[in-house]
Amino acid sequence: MKHAAVLAPSILAADHAHLAAGAATVQALGLEWVHLDIMDGHFVPNLSFGPQTVAALRKNSSLFFDTHLMLDEPHRYIEAFAKAGSNLISIHIEPAYDHAATLARIRALGCQNGIVLNPGTPTEAIEPYLSQVDIVLVMTVQPGFGGQPFRRDMLAKISQIDRWRQERGLTFRLEVDGGVDLVTGHECRVAGADTFVAGTSFFGAADKPAVVKAVAGW
Ligand code: DX5
Ligand code: ZN
Repeated sequence: MKHAAVLAPSILAADHAHLAAGAATVQALGLEWVHLDIMDGHFVPNLSFGPQTVAALRKNSSLFFDTHLMLDEPHRYIEAFAKAGSNLISIHIEPAYDHAATLARIRALGCQNGIVLNPGTPTEAIEPYLSQVDIVLVMTVQPGFGGQPFRRDMLAKISQIDRWRQERGLTFRLEVDGGVDLVTGHECRVAGADTFVAGTSFFGAADKPAVVKAVAGW
């Protein structure tokens, strides 16, 4: 089974004085997902926005909120982001906390859950969780900042996770995030990815409908 390609623009790359307008741009193009990057200044060397902002966006949007928590202690904030209107909450494997319990808690709160791995983290680290998640997010840059170049050496990782998914009859989505554009995203699609986060390449695109159309054809 192969999931249809989903484009999830990251509003990290939108105008932060007008985030609702960024989300509205995504929705007006007929897209269903928007990617929300949450940074704590510890797990990654940058800060973005928090649950209050997500809740405010929720009031103005019916998009599927794909919330990517780049936090050292994500388990402390699951409830807040679920309440704020997240539809999917993904958590990183790298920090030490009870990953299985946190993934279960996300679902208990009515959200889809996801596990994320950084470029330097081996695929084996997430293997025990594959049957417990709705999405696996492979970082194709070191997280923290938009606009970085795509890490082509992550393609093998995507293929490995897709292989495991097929061998085990699992149906989680496989998402990529960082430096994704129409060229690198298509390479990820060929490797097995089905969900494409795009910040800079999406919000910087002069012809956004063409981008949407291209990804829909993957
Ligand atoms: C990176 C974030 C990404 C970021 C991607 O820390 O997780 O979601 O917004 O931005 P681009 O597409 O510009 O690499
Ligand atoms: Zn992200």
